[in-house]
Amino acid sequence: MQTSTRNSLLLKRSLAAVWHPCTQMKQHETLPLIPVARASGCWLYDFDGKRYLDAVSSWWVNLFGHGNARINAALREQLETLEHAMLAGFTHETVVELSERLSRFTGGKLGHCFYGSDGASAVEIALKMSFHYWRNAGQPQKTEFVSLAGSYHGETLGALSVTDVALFKDIYAPLLRASARVTSPDWRLAATGESARDYALRAAKSLEQHLEQHHATTAALIIEPLVQGAAGMAMYDAAYLREARALCDRYGVHFIADEIMTGFGRTGTFFAHEQANITADFLCLSKGITGGYLPLSVVMTSDEIYQAFYDEKVTRGFLHSHSYTGNALACRAALAVLDIFEQNNVIDLNRTKSARITEATKDIANHPRAKHFRNAGMIWAFEVTDSTPDFSYRFHEQALARELLLRPIGNTVYFMPPYVINDEEVALLASRTLNILDS
Ligand SMILES: Cc1ncc(COP(=O)(O)O)c(C=O)c1O
Repeated sequence: MQTSTRNSLLLKRSLAAVWHPCTQMKQHETLPLIPVARASGCWLYDFDGKRYLDAVSSWWVNLFGHGNARINAALREQLETLEHAMLAGFTHETVVELSERLSRFTGGKLGHCFYGSDGASAVEIALKMSFHYWRNAGQPQKTEFVSLAGSYHGETLGALSVTDVALFKDIYAPLLRASARVTSPDWRLAATGESARDYALRAAKSLEQHLEQHHATTAALIIEPLVQGAAGMAMYDAAYLREARALCDRYGVHFIADEIMTGFGRTGTFFAHEQANITADFLCLSKGITGGYLPLSVVMTSDEIYQAFYDEKVTRGFLHSHSYTGNALACRAALAVLDIFEQNNVIDLNRTKSARITEATKDIANHPRAKHFRNAGMIWAFEVTDSTPDFSYRFHEQALARELLLRPIGNTVYFMPPYVINDEEVALLASRTLNILDS
């Protein structure tokens, strides 16, 4: 069969049989779905060999490129021994080793790993665990959660309850639990002349006021450290995290770090919250954990939290489960990811790479249509000032025509490439983005 026929046939079959995520399917009458025949490094290819630079790491999951030889080899080896075994009543080497090694990345402070599959399932676990901890600790009235304005924590009902993105949330409002919102420290909201740090500390007053009034009924603050992804890569000063941690300590409220997007080096350190020198009570990880290979999430927590569930009484235990909890293949991919981090000095190399990408994109930063150009680690973002309501859709289309996979959030264009992106690919990304801005 001709390759172009394979492309069109696949699209037809997909539109008939697959309900695609986060999509008004009717839009595909005008915006074509892209067939992916194979992928390698930073590139996705269709059957004709037409290629797209995956500048958003396939929804923020890919770290070391598609078809990574080391992750592939680890998975092949794992397939020969164990693909999956239920984790209730059973255990296996891969999940134990992963838990031990992840714990070391928290300096041993979060030594208990509870696994889920997608990011949202980790958020559900953290919210339930926090509530249940307080109940076990004799404070059953602590049932409420607080999050930042513009926060995003996933689409399941619990996670959506603490999310603040109207487009995803409003329709489902009758199904959701009420939760509180406090001012975001997003530095784009700073007053003229106010530093990012000063604004972060000013924003923390809103959290302080909230906790002052509601701490008795508040179980936890859930927060995306340093970068609020779905809010449009809203970046903020680490001072906010230090202040929020101190407030949670003062008012007896858990601190849930949702590092589902920011973890595994995206913001320049292995975990974003390290930049504030703090420890979370619950740390939610997913996305990059398997290098973008397989669904896996984990909630890591402290001995103190764990001990509150350890009891003769079954109902004081955390009776939560997902069928694929601790899946051996996913855990093995995660171990291969940790090997790459440790053996290739990824965090240090990314620091140099990040500086080079910032230099290579300076004409975008200085473009008359670009505003608030910003960077944290391996994430870059800017707003396009004269955007129309259909900007995101049209920019995406223009990018595809130039071999780029970019999906703006509203009028925010961002780059979050796999860490293996090379100078030539960066130059292509920068020049073609400039070309779209100029057109
Ligand atoms: C910060 C954050 N939390 C939670 C989620 C939900 O993860 P998932 O889509 O894997 O359920 C996301 C997804 O983008 C996220 O960015």
